[in-house]
Amino acid sequence: MGKILVIGAQGMLGRDLLPELRVSFPDDEILGWDMEEIDIRMEKETIEQIEALYPQIIINVAAYTDVDGCERNEEEAFRVNAEGMKHIALGARRCGAKVVYLSTDYVFDGKKGEPYLEEDSPHPLNIYGESKLKGEHYVQELTKEGLIIRTQWLFGKYGKNFVYAILKQAQEKEVISIVKDQIGSPTYTRDLSKAICALVQKRGQGIFHVANGGFCSWFVFAQKILSYAGIHGVKAIPIASEELDRPARRPSYSVFNTAKFLKTTGWNLRPWSEALKDFLFEIERGSIPGGKES
Ligand SMILES: NC(=O)c1ccc[n+]([C@@H]2O[C@H](COP(=O)([O-])OP(=O)(O)OC[C@H]3O[C@@H](n4cnc5c(N)ncnc54)[C@H](OP(=O)(O)O)[C@@H]3O)[C@@H](O)[C@H]2O)c1
Repeated sequence: MGKILVIGAQGMLGRDLLPELRVSFPDDEILGWDMEEIDIRMEKETIEQIEALYPQIIINVAAYTDVDGCERNEEEAFRVNAEGMKHIALGARRCGAKVVYLSTDYVFDGKKGEPYLEEDSPHPLNIYGESKLKGEHYVQELTKEGLIIRTQWLFGKYGKNFVYAILKQAQEKEVISIVKDQIGSPTYTRDLSKAICALVQKRGQGIFHVANGGFCSWFVFAQKILSYAGIHGVKAIPIASEELDRPARRPSYSVFNTAKFLKTTGWNLRPWSEALKDFLFEIERGSIPGGKES
């Protein structure tokens, strides 16, 4: 029996990942740490805590994920997303643990115009993307069999996400303005959790792109949320990104090519629209137990 440690266990992905790991690795002990147990910004403590636990696998889903917040607070973004990853990697080295790091489509600038491959050159447009890319470099430099899983546009039960934001706005307004010029693949944290388990089981190493199938703009995503949720009295209006005037720039097109994941695991994630229907069905059933504020 081995130990699998998830860091960032109380986050949106972490809370779906833990139960999935328990199903996929029934013979292993699955442990979850978050801010209460560890602060990955602290180098010495992080290394020592990991060494004391001596896990075989560490999955780092802890991050400073507020993209505009990162732009305003660059130092903190690098402390958590880059240096935090470095400290975990150094701890992992002490016990020979495999490291799995969740990264982002925001390492790309969106100018390719066709789905991104793992070997395409990154070029982040914002601090969040830069700090996550530096985290990737630490995994590559400091660990032997490191696994980097880039994903995008997450939604799930337990976190602040676009689906909750649209449902909330629909309760307050009759017209909502949504960006039409950013294209990506909405990804359900439950599906992603299964994908992470599959890659770990297949002993995946290096970079993998993982997202639900298909792609859309935020505007089309919002339209589908409203329609699948049966909300008809609210109109979504398409706007350009610049009209929002947000601190962080975002790629206009960050769709992934997921052929490497398919080749390695033998399957691909279902289309995002199916995943969204499932998620909304769960909300309707009342099985969404609040989680963190959205
Ligand atoms: N959300 C997306 O759309 C998206 C897209 C692409 C990639 N990703 C990546 O996927 C992973 C999971 O994202 P998520 O949306 O689940 O993130 P999340 O909900 O923000 O969860 C991150 C967790 O990490 C914790 N954390 C923050 N700083 C920490 C520190 N110094 N030490 C220990 N724990 C700390 C947070 O605690 P507090 O809440 O108390 O700060 C939170 O519980 C991240 O690596 C993220 O970069 C996310």
